[in-house]
Amino acid sequence: MAKEINTIGVLTSGGDAPGMNAAIRAVVRQAIVKGKKAKGIKRGYAGLLSEEIIDMDTHSVSDIISRGGTILQTARCLEFKEEEYQLQGAEICKKHGIDGLVVIGGDGSFQGAQKLANNGVNTIGVPGTIDLDIACTEYTIGFDTAVNTAMDAIDKVRDTSTSHERCSIIEVMGRGAGYIALWCGIANGAEDVLLPERYDYDEQKLVNHIIDGRKRGKQHHIIINAEGIGHSVSMAKRIEAATGIETRASILGHMQRGGNPTAKDRVYASTMGALAVDLLCEGKSNRVVGYQNGEFVDFDINEALAMHKGLDEYQVDICEALGNANYYKLHQY
Ligand code: ADP
Ligand code: F6P
Repeated sequence: MAKEINTIGVLTSGGDAPGMNAAIRAVVRQAIVKGKKAKGIKRGYAGLLSEEIIDMDTHSVSDIISRGGTILQTARCLEFKEEEYQLQGAEICKKHGIDGLVVIGGDGSFQGAQKLANNGVNTIGVPGTIDLDIACTEYTIGFDTAVNTAMDAIDKVRDTSTSHERCSIIEVMGRGAGYIALWCGIANGAEDVLLPERYDYDEQKLVNHIIDGRKRGKQHHIIINAEGIGHSVSMAKRIEAATGIETRASILGHMQRGGNPTAKDRVYASTMGALAVDLLCEGKSNRVVGYQNGEFVDFDINEALAMHKGLDEYQVDICEALGNANYYKLHQY
């Protein structure tokens, strides 16, 4: 029989994501509803090691559901990859009476949670990253807001690109993952989308495509470039030189990580935060919460970390086809 949990801690780790505050609020309030104490750990694993631990109650999380960022702040803490510090982190949890911990972050943060679980702290991971690159879940906190932010920005670039009859390269975030780029490719109707998982670095193909579009009367050419490929500014210079068409690069950067979370991010983050507390109260540990096939589910952290995820092939195909219908017809693919 698992020992009953008395105090639930919560931390955010890795890159922040809109909706993390909704998840923190859900953890704290669901813990209180279940008769537990709640503690917040500031600055991810770095704050755990420096014991930046605060008591939290219902009021500590008032007025945050609509705000981007994370009130607990976040950090990347390289030390925590070392056993010595993981052990120290577990001891600090015990010292502060934290017998259940909810870690909101990405795959890296889950590895930290797994190490704490191995050292006797009951942990549950909640997927929080704008990148959508966590294999065990079709949803991660922040992706919906980030992709909508990027889509709005790309719409705006498209207006000026059309007025000036330019080619525009817009670089979106996603580290090595092309989900934001792919979704924007479909949502913005881009002519080309460069995905780290697929790009063959054949720039001549891009150049031919741009020239071909111009000959057919296209007034702009939108290229969405994923951060994992990068180098948008130098790419723009080479494309302008090769096509003779004015080309500009816009790197959207950290604006994609901020802003008020969408309804979806608020609701899913709230559900996942509450579910993480329920799992701890049921005596579960070393698990992560996910969303699959229309349901909120949970997996063993080790199994979740061993899973692999790829881009949806059909979405990649339609992204290319719908943004280039004439081109496809012309070339009779
Ligand atoms: P994300 O959680 O978004 O994937 P990172 O990969 O930057 O972001 O990881 C966030 C933090 O998680 C790291 O700074 C580190 O503190 C912790 N972490 C990452 N990998 C490990 C690991 N192998 N073991 C323990 N902790 C880790
Ligand atoms: O993981 C989220 C993310 O925004 C990635 O898309 C990006 O590569 C990275 O974080 C940027 O990190 P930093 O905040 O350290 O610049």
